[in-house]
Amino acid sequence: MNLLLYGAPGSGKGTQANVLRAYFRIPHIATGDMLRAEIANRTQLGLKAQPILAAGQYVSDEIMIAMIRNRLRQADCEPGFIMDGFPRTVPQAEALDDLMEELGRRFDRVIYLKVPVDELLRRLSGRLVCPRCQRTYPPGTAACAIHGTALVQREDDKPEAVRPRIEIYLEKTVPVLDHYRAFGLVSEIDGRGTIEAISSQVLAAVSTHLNGANSSPRSGEVARRAGGAARPKQKP
Ligand code: AP5
Ligand code: MG
Repeated sequence: MNLLLYGAPGSGKGTQANVLRAYFRIPHIATGDMLRAEIANRTQLGLKAQPILAAGQYVSDEIMIAMIRNRLRQADCEPGFIMDGFPRTVPQAEALDDLMEELGRRFDRVIYLKVPVDELLRRLSGRLVCPRCQRTYPPGTAACAIHGTALVQREDDKPEAVRPRIEIYLEKTVPVLDHYRAFGLVSEIDGRGTIEAISSQVLAAVSTHLNGANSSPRSGEVARRAGGAARPKQKP
């Protein structure tokens, strides 16, 4: 199962990836999280990337493509993966096509979480994250449910970075959607509503395209499996 989550900043990619990785038990590959780990570890790449992320701009295609080439070759990706935050430009999408071909893989589905800009701005300004595991939480949450750590605001969620992030997404990342639409891979999902209802729609879209019939799991089923119950015996 190889899934690609596509959407604007704040559309819920990370939130849905947390549900999907528990459901399918495959890794969540999030380039933003990878970059933030480099920044936290003060690596050479992290030092270079920090001001770019803080300004809401994109790290170069060359760096990001090299990062993904390394990551997808790691053994934990063999059963599949959930990609979040890559590709963000058409050259990244083309490089990923080549890499997938080299690896003999293909995407099962590209899930586009569609959320209007005013809702994106509202979500990003209130978002809180765990500095240890990067899980995201809605405004008002005190501590990480997993680590008990005090939550913080992401540097790029400060007002001066949020607008540039949306602008660069509209300019450079929207064309990536057309790239995948041309392959007939995109399922567009309204990203507004409860997290669980959206997860059910995502799983229904994956299910429909894998089995050719809509055998969507109900919301309760999503919550049960995401809570750590048995892995589905066959692809949904
Ligand atoms: P990245 O970390 O990928 O950031 P992003 O794409 O801007 O997306 P976000 O993580 O902000 O949003 P999300 O869609 O994951 O939403 P979330 O689930 O958190 O990248 C950061 C930076 O790294 C980039 O700006 C760039 O500089 C660099 N970078 C990364 N990849 C790159 C690449 N390939 N090339 C170049 N540069 C790259 O949800 C948001 C909030 O909404 C949360 O508070 C959540 O609780 C809430 N929420 C979620 N779902 C719902 C719902 N249904 N209803 C109400 N609230 C909800
Ligand atoms: Mg995210």
